[in-house]
Formats: sequence, C-alpha cells, structure tokens
Amino acid sequence: MLETFANEPVLEFRRAAVRAQLDEALAQVDRSLPLDAPVRIGRESRSGDELASTDPGAPDRLVARAAVARPDEIEAAVAQARLGFSEWRTATPQRRAAALVGAAAWMRERRLELTALEVRECAKPWLEADADVCEAIDFLEYYARAALELGRGRELLQVPGERNELNYVPRGVVAVISPWNFPLAIPCGMTSAALVTGNAVVLKPAEQSPGIAAKLVDALRAGGIPATALGLLPGAGDVGAALVRHPDVAAIAFTGSLPVGKEIVRSAAEVGDGQRQFKQVVAELGGKNCVIVDADADLDEAVPGIVGSAFAYAGQKCSAASRVLVHEAIADQLLERIAGAVQVLVVGQAHELGTDVPPVIEQAAQERVTRYTELAAADGTIVAVAQPPAGGGWFCPATVASDLPNGSAVLEEEIFGPLLAVQRVRDIDAACDLVDGLAFALTGGLFTRDPATVRRVTERTPVGNLYVNRGITGAMVGRQPFGGNRLSGTGMKAGGPDYLLQFVAQRAVTENTMRHGLVV
Ligand SMILES: NC(=O)c1ccc[n+]([C@@H]2O[C@H](COP(=O)([O-])OP(=O)(O)OC[C@H]3O[C@@H](n4cnc5c(N)ncnc54)[C@H](O)[C@@H]3O)[C@@H](O)[C@H]2O)c1
Repeated sequence: MLETFANEPVLEFRRAAVRAQLDEALAQVDRSLPLDAPVRIGRESRSGDELASTDPGAPDRLVARAAVARPDEIEAAVAQARLGFSEWRTATPQRRAAALVGAAAWMRERRLELTALEVRECAKPWLEADADVCEAIDFLEYYARAALELGRGRELLQVPGERNELNYVPRGVVAVISPWNFPLAIPCGMTSAALVTGNAVVLKPAEQSPGIAAKLVDALRAGGIPATALGLLPGAGDVGAALVRHPDVAAIAFTGSLPVGKEIVRSAAEVGDGQRQFKQVVAELGGKNCVIVDADADLDEAVPGIVGSAFAYAGQKCSAASRVLVHEAIADQLLERIAGAVQVLVVGQAHELGTDVPPVIEQAAQERVTRYTELAAADGTIVAVAQPPAGGGWFCPATVASDLPNGSAVLEEEIFGPLLAVQRVRDIDAACDLVDGLAFALTGGLFTRDPATVRRVTERTPVGNLYVNRGITGAMVGRQPFGGNRLSGTGMKAGGPDYLLQFVAQRAVTENTMRHGLVV
C-alpha cells in the first residue's frame, strides 16, 4: 500500500549548507567526466564514442561519450524487447509499481549528482535542474499509483447468467523518443508510464543528453525493471525514425518539435509488411505560447510572471511565454516595465546561482535564435536586451521586441530561445482571436482582476494549459496535468489521471455462467 502521492520537495537553495553540497556534487561530477552512454540491449552493452555530448556553457568540456545504435542493434533491441515483453506483461501491477518506486528511491539517493549532471550536460541552472529531477521522481511515484488503480479494471453492468469484466492490457514494445530540455523528467515520464502498464521499452534519448538518459536506465533497472524490458539506443534522429518504422513497435511515445512529430505521425500510420497492429502515437510537441494582459491586470504580478516564463532556461521550454498580447490602454506601461526587468537579467553560466538566462543548448540553436532576433529587429523594434558575457558558450542575448507586423514569423513560429514579442491589442476578444488563429495550442496565460474575463478567456482559449495570474511554466505532476491541443500534441496529459490509458489496450471478457455454473 503506497502513501498518497505528494510532490517531491525542491532543495532549499537559500541555505548555505545546501549550496555547499551542490558545489561539492558539481566538483565530483566534473571529476567523473566524460560519462559513458552505451547502447544497452538486455544485459549486453556496447560503449562507443561516435556521439559527443558537450557542456553548452563550455563546449570544450566533454560531458558524455555515447555509442550510436547501428541498424543491427536497433533490430536486436526490438527483438529483445519483444522477448522481454512476454515476461514483463505477466508481472503484477504491484510488482511493476514497486519497480518505479524503487527507481524513485535510487534517484533520491543520487539527487545532487543528477542535478549537477543536468547543469553540465544541458546548462540547466541549479533551480531548474533540481526541479527536473523532482519531476522525474514525481512521475515515478504518480504513475506507480495510477497503475495500481488501472490494474483494478472498471466496473461493468452485470446481469444474471453473465460475468463481465473490463481490463487494461499492455500494447507491446514501446519506442520512447525524448528531447533534451527536460533531460531526466521527460524520458522518465514516458518510459515509466509505458513500463508500469506492462510494456517493454526501447528508449532513444536526445543526442544532446545521452549521459543523463544512461542514468535513467540505471535508475529503472536498479529499481527492478528487468534488463530485457528496457533497452537504450543513443543516436540521432535516424535511430528514432528506424524505431518508428519498425513493424514490431506497437506504440511510440514522442516529445519534441512539431516537424519531427508530423513525420512520426505520418510514418507510424503506414502499416508495413508483417505488422500486426496499428501503431499508437503519443506526441507532445511545441508551442507558441501567448500571455494576455488585460487593462485591469496587476502589473506587479504580470511583469515577473511574464519575464520568468519567457527567459528562465533561456526560453527553452515548450511552455515558455513567447508572445504577450496586451490591452492598448496599458501597453506602454507594461512594455516599459518588462524592458526594465529584462535589462537587468543576468545572462551567464548555469552553475552560477545568480544566473537568470543560461546559454542555449548548441550552436545550431544559437544560430536559429540569432536569425529570429535579426528578423525582429528588421521588422519591428527591439525594446530591451540583456547581453551575455564575453567568452565561450552558446549564449544568446535576452531580447524583447515590439511593433511586429501581423504574420511575422517571430509572432507565429516556435523560436525556443530568449526572445519575447509584445503586441498591443484592442481588447481581450481581439487577443483571443489571435490565440485562436494559431496552429499551436500548448500553454497560455491571462492576467486580469475580473472573474468574468477569466471565464470568457477560459471558454475561448484552445490551449491545453491556461494559467491565470501566474507564470505559464512549471507544471507540477498531479496538480497541472500537462499537454497541448491542436498541433501541440495528440495525447492525454502527462502527470494526469488519464495518461496511462495511452499505453494500454482494453479487453472486455464476457462469460456465460448459466449452463455450467462456476467451478470454484
Ligand atoms: N509538449 C511538451 O510536453 C514538450 C516538452 C518538451 C519539449 N517539447 C518540444 O521539443 C522541442 C525541443 O526538443 P528537441 O530539440 O529535442 O526536439 P526534436 O524534435 O529535434 O528532437 C526530439 C527527439 O526526436 C528525435 N528525432 C529527430 N528526428 C527524428 C525522426 N525523423 N524520427 C524520429 N525521431 C527523431 C531526436 O533525435 C530527439 O531524440 C521543442 O519543439 C519543444 O517545444 C515539447
């Protein structure tokens, strides 16, 4: 019997002793680099150095050396997972749940090490890295409890002479394909949900964070997931694409960008030779997240809420604010205050506690953000910039732009970096029209003091997660089930009561008990 779920408490950074422990953990992690991220198939593993993961803040620092899965290893991993599935599917819900709880305990014991590793491999600032480790633990604990609930099945109508039951059964081999921006929590959530419902998993982590993914596999196996039920295939997108095409993969759990998500949905829809089931696709994709600010908003609340949502982790969150739609009556005032707050943001290294905006993940990301910033300067007005430090690292300035024309790519495309666009609107309905015009519908925000406006925007918004009078990032497992609508996602919300349903099929069994009675 597990205790009622509660979120893992974050570290108390205000305590000098905690900060000293983090410094020590970082020094220890630095001494252990580079980590090994091997291909893992059953009990076998092959190390390699075909893929290098480096520190975004100091690209000369090698964080992990990863093997890249070859085509024969992809075949072997799926074949092994099929075998593993035939055993793991028979494990009781209690045993599967216990494995997740065991993995959570393993992570708690290594909490500082995992946090420090995120600081190095993904340039996650301390607070963000700690929150990611907590979220991974939360997914494990939450889905363990949800699986026990699901294992009880559902009540059906019973009539004399008939016994009816409805059960949830695993689908088979699940390919989990994850991004780097929540390098532990996101692969952990998808993988643990698939495993706890009795599936076998082949995990293809992001090429930018194979070191942390290797730790996740260690945690789950240490917790009690059989090696045969969980494989690890580091590599780039082609490894993921091969898994998606594989006829023995029953389901794909993907979190990442819209273009890759579209390609996965298209490829998974094809039924290849020898394939015996339609592939289920769980896709959690990007966003273009708008914050609406009404004329009656409390700007003391709105300014930090907007700036934090746009620039924490350099805007590299699917939920990050990228567009503000502000009532024209207060637009000048809000813009001036946002500009003031952004000018004093500290752009710096992730391991420095005072840093607000760390470097972006890689050179390609720096180039992409620079292109959008140049476009914003050409088509609109740059109203504030916080400059990065001189020296190495994939830094981008934190930038606020305004006066962009409708239809500008800066207003409609996902930038995934520290660039915020502010736009004036006539009123709240005009803001809702703009939000409704977007294909993305992930998160959204509203600042207002009027309950009627809250109701109106709630009714009109297409987004999956609407946050009112607060920042629009930082969804907590069990409190803010998370996921997008429209082209921002296909699935049930992660960290919510229905998420596991995507990893199971339903089986109804009806028995005629009239003629023979039941032999007990
Ligand atoms: N909705 C959410 O919950 C959520 C959460 C985090 C990130 N995201 C989104 O993820 C994106 C950032 O992450 P990213 O840069 O790692 O995304 P990405 O789409 O580039 O890569 C994600 C994963 O897909 C793999 N991949 C690439 N091409 C593939 C293909 N053709 N077939 C199969 N797999 C392939 C990559 O190797 C990686 O493991 C942003 O768009 C962000 O909004 C969404």
